[in-house]
Amino acid sequence: MKVICLGGGPAGLYLGISLKLRNPEHEVEVYERNKPDDTFGWGIVFSDQTVDNITANDPISAQRIVDEFIHWDLIDCHVSGAVERSGGHGFIGLGRKRFLQLLHERARELGVVLHFEQEIELDDIGTRFADADVIVASDGLNSKIRNTYLEEFGCTIETRPNKFVWLGTHQTFRDAFTFIFERTEHGWIWAHAYQFDDSTSTFIVETTPEVYDALGFDEMSHDESAETCRRIFEDYLDGHALMTNSAHIRGSAWINFPAVYCDNWIKDDRIVLIGDAAHTAHFSIGSGTKLGLEDAISLAHHLDSGESIASALRQYQEERKIDVLRLQNSARNAMIWFENVPRYIDAFDLKQFNYSMLTRSQRVSHENLRLRDKAWLNTMETHLAQRYLGPAANDPVPPMFLPFSLRDMTLNNRVCVSPMCMYSATDGLPDDWHLVHYGSLAKGGAALVYTEMTNVSAEGRITPGCTGIWSDVHTDAWRRVTEFVHQHTQAKMAIQIGHAGPKGATLEPWKWDPKILDEPLPEHEQWPLLSASAIPFDTYSPVPRAMTREDMDTVLAQHVDAVKRADAAGFDMIEMHAAHGYLLSSFVTPVLNQRDDEYGGSLENRLRYPLEVCRAMRAAWPKRKPMSVRISAHDWMGELGITEKEALLIAEAFIDAGADIINVSTGQTSHSAQPQPGRMFQTPLSDVIRNDGGVPTIAVGNIYETDHVNSIIAAGRADLVCLARPHLADPNWTLHAAAELGYQGPGAAEQHQYFLGFRQAYTLAEREREAAL
Ligand SMILES: Cc1cc2nc3c(=O)[nH]c(=O)nc-3n(C[C@H](O)[C@H](O)[C@H](O)COP(=O)(O)OP(=O)(O)OC[C@H]3O[C@@H](n4cnc5c(N)ncnc54)[C@H](O)[C@@H]3O)c2cc1C
Ligand SMILES: Cc1cc2nc3c(=O)[nH]c(=O)nc-3n(C[C@H](O)[C@H](O)[C@H](O)COP(=O)(O)O)c2cc1C
Repeated sequence: MKVICLGGGPAGLYLGISLKLRNPEHEVEVYERNKPDDTFGWGIVFSDQTVDNITANDPISAQRIVDEFIHWDLIDCHVSGAVERSGGHGFIGLGRKRFLQLLHERARELGVVLHFEQEIELDDIGTRFADADVIVASDGLNSKIRNTYLEEFGCTIETRPNKFVWLGTHQTFRDAFTFIFERTEHGWIWAHAYQFDDSTSTFIVETTPEVYDALGFDEMSHDESAETCRRIFEDYLDGHALMTNSAHIRGSAWINFPAVYCDNWIKDDRIVLIGDAAHTAHFSIGSGTKLGLEDAISLAHHLDSGESIASALRQYQEERKIDVLRLQNSARNAMIWFENVPRYIDAFDLKQFNYSMLTRSQRVSHENLRLRDKAWLNTMETHLAQRYLGPAANDPVPPMFLPFSLRDMTLNNRVCVSPMCMYSATDGLPDDWHLVHYGSLAKGGAALVYTEMTNVSAEGRITPGCTGIWSDVHTDAWRRVTEFVHQHTQAKMAIQIGHAGPKGATLEPWKWDPKILDEPLPEHEQWPLLSASAIPFDTYSPVPRAMTREDMDTVLAQHVDAVKRADAAGFDMIEMHAAHGYLLSSFVTPVLNQRDDEYGGSLENRLRYPLEVCRAMRAAWPKRKPMSVRISAHDWMGELGITEKEALLIAEAFIDAGADIINVSTGQTSHSAQPQPGRMFQTPLSDVIRNDGGVPTIAVGNIYETDHVNSIIAAGRADLVCLARPHLADPNWTLHAAAELGYQGPGAAEQHQYFLGFRQAYTLAEREREAAL
């Protein structure tokens, strides 16, 4: 087989090596525009795991690399002169130039033909290389081949906002991978620094576009930029200069990171993308070279497998795409974290900022940090314990078991049972089912148990089975539940108060035709619906009436009445349901609100009525008791719906109207929405609201591991965490989490009647932990 690699970076060279290793008969030629030792940039980093992968593929080149690289374990995070150090991170650094030389040497040994100083043009593919079976586009970030056929490759290139410049220095940062954050008169700027040979380190400087402009980097030559950076970071440089080797780049040496995503990596069953030509991963997780090398291993394996070339290329793409996407997602989280450094650095103290930075990609979790550096994680857990338990707290506490107070209510841990409709009431009355259901959830250790959406009127129900709180009989029925919970458990109870609006009068979900979401009741059983606008929720849904001012007054009064009844029923907290396309949400979201009066149009107008209700509810609720508002912080409908920017404004408006905390859900405002519900997928919105707005938040959505909850709380992405489905599967979720973590303390209150069961659970969990070591 004859293979031509266009571009002699790590991906192209390693493909040549990997193919020749598998079969010396393959003909491989690599064309590179630069001279052999004419490489730009400084060092690269790999994780220890990448070394394992390349060792399995070619022990000889791997050994040569290992012989030369610098290994380190520590990460230092300096903020304005103070430092946090943690260990166990396992990285290696190597000069890019030296790395390429080692690959050249190995490629030549194996018979790969290397051509330097040859600029490849597109025409060459059909002329000079007409006899090649496969053309490998290993031409890097600015790949000519990919950029010419962007559409065919289904390629999107996002130019990210931050600016960065790749510098070098003879300050060695010998001990640790070093992050340095410095505040200038115009804002934050930071460096990612790591040693890659005996006397040199890479020193990447990054900042936001605002600070870049304000510091005047755009006007500076490469040398002036390097000198300005040196002055900013001089306290860390021990008199060493910062060096630039990017003289070949015209204009500013600073660049914006291009995030490259391609749906398809193959053209004409002959041309194939590899490495940075196919995808990029932000440099802050140091994975670009790793991806290129792993692409090369996979492509060589399939090309050599004896199948047809077309099939080999497809297999390669299929095999690599999932891994690449996973890594790109992590890299994306890390990139977005760095784009929001000012958010975290201003909101957190150094320890928590460091935790947030270490977990930025969401690949490194709380338990993962424990494995890396138990001592550091213990100091972090103790630090948080002191914040919430007082300075005398000397021992680490898993963050999910720290208390949290809202007004006069103190929760003994951070886990809440999310509101979940049971659709099992008659005439809105909770009965024995609800007593046992909420009773077992409260016994299960969650600090706060939300009721299902409980409606302010019979017409405000979603289904005939939904609960309500519109008469004395309802008040008494709910009191039975709260009294049990208060008498027998430490849990607090919150009632979610709502009105279904355009999503009312539907069948209970288990009666739906699976293809008809929110299937309406038969026509003769439906009741009249209200909404912001007379828009049916779906084509088959009943058409609601657009609310008149009189309707608004009636529904507002019903909410106030429900609040008073909630107090009489003994609830500790109320939540106003303003999410998921129900009545109040139908005002907030432009997807359902098309009014042209003062309640429609701008966000201010759309919020007018829900805020009025919120203020009235707050006024009717005792001052000592807290109130939350659940919002849909994103409609997942692109520009047609609510996006992140509006989410913060919505949250702030409800806080101003008297809410104490925002329960950050998303969507369910349209059946055509396109959420991507990965694990913890709504948490980034909670993070934005909490840390940009200084608003207390509850995170929810696909949070199911103890590790998720601990990471969210410790990284300050939310104050509380709601779990819904996990509690249906395991009402004792929190107590099991305590056993899993070996935590025994006030944050995990078990019932004495169950004492023996939990002792056994702790012992078994302890054995499992020991076996895992
Ligand atoms: C600031 C920064 C820091 C980074 N840090 C790390 C890190 O620490 N660890 C890590 O793993 N990765 C890092 N990377 C990413 C890493 O450099 C790339 O992901 C990796 O080099 C990709 O390898 P590649 O072979 O696909 O592309 P490249 O290394 O870009 O190689 C492509 C080659 O093709 C040649 N070429 C392009 N067009 C033509 C043409 N028309 N004719 C002939 N030759 C051509 C180029 O000269 C180049 O040599 C970093 C990147 C940046 C920007
Ligand atoms: C059976 C069920 C009923 C639900 N009912 C409500 C509800 O009454 N009010 C509400 O705001 N959310 C409701 N939700 C949404 C959950 O509160 C939660 O936001 C969602 O399930 C995501 O969390 P999870 O991934 O932990 O399940 C319901 C979810 C389920 C599974």
